[in-house]
Amino acid sequence: MEKIIVNGGRKLCGEVEISSAKNSILPIIASSILTNEKCIIENAPMLEDVFVICEVLENLNSKINIDKESRMITIDNSNLKLNEPSHNLVRKMRASFLTMGAMVARFGEFKISLPGGCNIGSRPIDLHLKGFKALGVQVEVGYGYVEAKVSKLKGNNIYLDFPSVGATENIMMAAVMAEGETIIENAAEEPEIVDLAKFLNSMGAKIIGAGTDKLRIIGVNRLNGARHRPIYDRIEAGTFMVAAAITRSKLKVINVSEEHVKPIIAKLTEMNVGIEIDKNSIIVDGDRDLKPVDIKTMPYPGFPTDMQAQMMALLCTVKGTGVITETIFENRFMHASELKRMGANIKLDGRSAIIEGVEHLTGAEVKATDLRAGAALILAGLGADGCTKIGDIYHIDRGYVDIEKKLKKVGAQIERISESDIKVV
Ligand code: EPZ
Repeated sequence: MEKIIVNGGRKLCGEVEISSAKNSILPIIASSILTNEKCIIENAPMLEDVFVICEVLENLNSKINIDKESRMITIDNSNLKLNEPSHNLVRKMRASFLTMGAMVARFGEFKISLPGGCNIGSRPIDLHLKGFKALGVQVEVGYGYVEAKVSKLKGNNIYLDFPSVGATENIMMAAVMAEGETIIENAAEEPEIVDLAKFLNSMGAKIIGAGTDKLRIIGVNRLNGARHRPIYDRIEAGTFMVAAAITRSKLKVINVSEEHVKPIIAKLTEMNVGIEIDKNSIIVDGDRDLKPVDIKTMPYPGFPTDMQAQMMALLCTVKGTGVITETIFENRFMHASELKRMGANIKLDGRSAIIEGVEHLTGAEVKATDLRAGAALILAGLGADGCTKIGDIYHIDRGYVDIEKKLKKVGAQIERISESDIKVV
């Protein structure tokens, strides 16, 4: 197993380039199922989760070429088969379930194992299934599988009890070739939804209103191949913005859409972090007297739950009291116990965490409990005195391209080592 070792207390300086968005490319790759023509994804992030979704499509007899040099993914689904994706792959990555809508649209049926929950919550799929049923799909759940069958998908009006990102994406993919018109109300408004709709429309779909809470999808007969460059990763950008703040440094974060990181800019500005907006980059100045803030995670355009752990790490280092309320996932505070091993003062009370900033965090042996928690521990290590050893970093590799290389390039003392390198003295 590998670990990431961070020697903290160093200032960062320079520029960081953000990669394309994991949560945009995953549904986009799944949506390539909707056409038997070639699809090309440019500037793809070479991430574990991207390799897994490609493996899931290869289970379905998709022919995929991933060119790691050019970061181009070419997908040929002309000979797609109605196979069942491997149970282990679906359990490994919930986003595999995003193939359901497209497979039902293409074959009129599909069987896939129930995507598991994960460390941050039970992650139900009831809203996905509610949408499929509204489009005329018969859905059976049992024996650890979801089975879907439909003779002809028919457009309908669907109201989502919660603006679920995945449910919005899955229903959108099922509806693009349904007969008639589909309206999804209380839809998710995330930038990744807009990017998926843009890709689908470039394939010939007719989706109106992406980025608002009401989507209108006019069914078409067929979709063609398309070429697409996904949006940049707003959560990776936010993570590096916090890296500047927690080390009290100045960093230029390149490939950022101000619009996509507005809630993060708002909170960091409230903390007295200096923010300078450039064309497609943001200069973050953390070398100031920072103040604590209260944060409540909300669906976009509210504060993103995927930035909650990183902001908790930052608040641990800022004098005063900050309160974080996690409204999206029921178990997304596991990083708190790891941060407390580094001297953080955090009290958990249900969905809220009360953080009292301490003089300084101290390096310790910690473990990543999920993707964003792992990123938060790296940030805490950067700001801590001494050496932090982070285990279970496979979580981090799911969503961050070369995070330690990008940090090292701006002056962090950070290494990735394998267990065998660690000499037991
Ligand atoms: C997407 O997950 C992201 N993943 C998550 O990012 C992100 O945290 C989440 O959206 C919220 O923004 C991808 O895009 C691959 P949801 P998703 O459906 O689609 C409840 C990361 O770190 N819900 O919006 O699974 C659910 O329990 C990951 O990059 C239902 O009740 O999120 C949760 O409380 C983590 N029924 C809330 O909605 C459903 O059918 C948000 O879930 C579906 C969801």
